[in-house]
Amino acid sequence: MPDTAPAIECESLRVRRGKKLVLHGITVTVPCGQVVGLLGPSGGGKTTLMRSIVGVQRIASGSVQVLGLPSGDARLRRLVGYSTQAASIYDDLTVRQNLSYFRSVLGARAEDIDRVLQETALSDTAGQLVATLSGGQRSRVSLAVAMLSSPPLLVLDEPTVGLDPVLREDLWNLFHDLARGGSTLLVSSHVMDEATRCDRLLLMRDGDLVADLTPSELLARTGAATAEEAFLAIIRQHPKHRAGGS
Ligand SMILES: Nc1ncnc2c1ncn2[C@@H]1O[C@H](COP(=O)(O)OP(=O)(O)O)[C@@H](O)[C@H]1O
Ligand SMILES: [Mg+2]
Repeated sequence: MPDTAPAIECESLRVRRGKKLVLHGITVTVPCGQVVGLLGPSGGGKTTLMRSIVGVQRIASGSVQVLGLPSGDARLRRLVGYSTQAASIYDDLTVRQNLSYFRSVLGARAEDIDRVLQETALSDTAGQLVATLSGGQRSRVSLAVAMLSSPPLLVLDEPTVGLDPVLREDLWNLFHDLARGGSTLLVSSHVMDEATRCDRLLLMRDGDLVADLTPSELLARTGAATAEEAFLAIIRQHPKHRAGGS
């Protein structure tokens, strides 16, 4: 893996799901060591782009390179942590049992379990069955699983949705701590308020990347007072794709 490779490099990426072209040719480079927000309304293609990056999405054309390797390459398995929008963890196991299971799958170390429990503030719930957890706790278990192998790239699909403001603040602080340690985080959200928490923003709408900028550039470019207003101003400048169009 070349040290100088960007975390993610997409070139003219097009993805079809069912009959619909859902990514219309995305070209973007994400440098290492930043917290990058992937923002935009539901249905815009955030999850599809993330699936393409982690190598579980069939691509129609174009390419995706991750840490200098083609997405889905076996060597990326321990280098990319992915937490899905709907937490994919086992309800009938405790939090710790889930982590033990995924630790053995990933070949992570035993001590990583206590580390991720602490980082996601789940130490007190370690013995609880996942079925009995709140939505916010479940998404943190899924995040903890993604963090087990300390991957240099974390792809987190709406990790802060449904969390109370204090927990959300804690998680964003954790994301920045991880980035300071050299990790790259791609974090999606449909809540535009989260924009100000990111080092860099990728704004998606209707299968297109409509902006790639910093939060302050977003406000400066649009003259808007809030990220939400700025985003609306940007999407008004971008015509929607017609259904089925390519
Ligand atoms: N399994 C699927 N089959 C067909 N279309 C899908 C499927 N999953 C998502 N889509 C469509 O792909 C588009 C992008 O969805 P998605 O990537 O989930 O967006 P987001 O994560 O931004 O909400 C939407 O129009 C959605 O309806
Ligand atoms: Mg999604």
